[in-house]
Amino acid sequence: MLFEVDKDSLLPIYFQIEEGLKSLISSGELQPGEMIPSERELCDRYDVSRMTVRQAINNLVNDGFLIRKRGKGTFVGMGKIEQGLKGLTSFTEDMKARGMNPTSILLDFREIKATAALSAKLQIHENEWLIEMQRIRIADDIPMAYESVYLPKELVPELTKEIASQSLYDYIEKEKKLAIAHADQSLEASVAKQKEAEILQIDEGAPVLAIERTTFLTTGKPLEFVRSIYRGDRYKFKIELVRS
Ligand code: GLP
Repeated sequence: MLFEVDKDSLLPIYFQIEEGLKSLISSGELQPGEMIPSERELCDRYDVSRMTVRQAINNLVNDGFLIRKRGKGTFVGMGKIEQGLKGLTSFTEDMKARGMNPTSILLDFREIKATAALSAKLQIHENEWLIEMQRIRIADDIPMAYESVYLPKELVPELTKEIASQSLYDYIEKEKKLAIAHADQSLEASVAKQKEAEILQIDEGAPVLAIERTTFLTTGKPLEFVRSIYRGDRYKFKIELVRS
């Protein structure tokens, strides 16, 4: 491993270590999945405090460059996927646009009666039939998100488990010939609950992004209400702000 730390520099030492490790990752000298030297080794090599090394590593973990595995060490991560917040896109489209292979594992698929909360979201009567599906969204074999989708059954009465394991938007647009128009989406910080952590293969309590989306057809009718939990170590959302 080659990078220098200049103790006379105005740049803080933790920052130099952070940048040094980052450059080794971007040059490919450290490969995804490779273990990096321990905190102790880095302290000895650069003659700096544990706190300094830890700060550098924490920042890189938060940015998705490194992953800590309890009891094992710190490894080079995959970096974060940068996801624009402008277009109304599907998971399949998003991953394909990055050259990744999207797949899903369907955990649950059933018909339920709309609760008061869901009927309000989907602008239908309480107790009307909904299709509920829970999917693990995977890209290149890595679980990225866990989604619970609710659709008025009336709109998609022939929806099957097989279709639900593939792109929902593809089915809606190409098979059902329904036109998706816009969506309301909220995004908030959260931590992985036990079940979510297991599904997403992260630690319980690890940071996640909780997203809710209600998608509307051109007719104005809500098509879906979706709750998604995205891995905080793999996702970064990005939006352009224009001052009016
Ligand atoms: C994203 C959205 C969901 C939507 C899904 C459709 O994941 N958050 O609201 O249901 O895309 O994706 P696909 O067409 O791949 O099934």
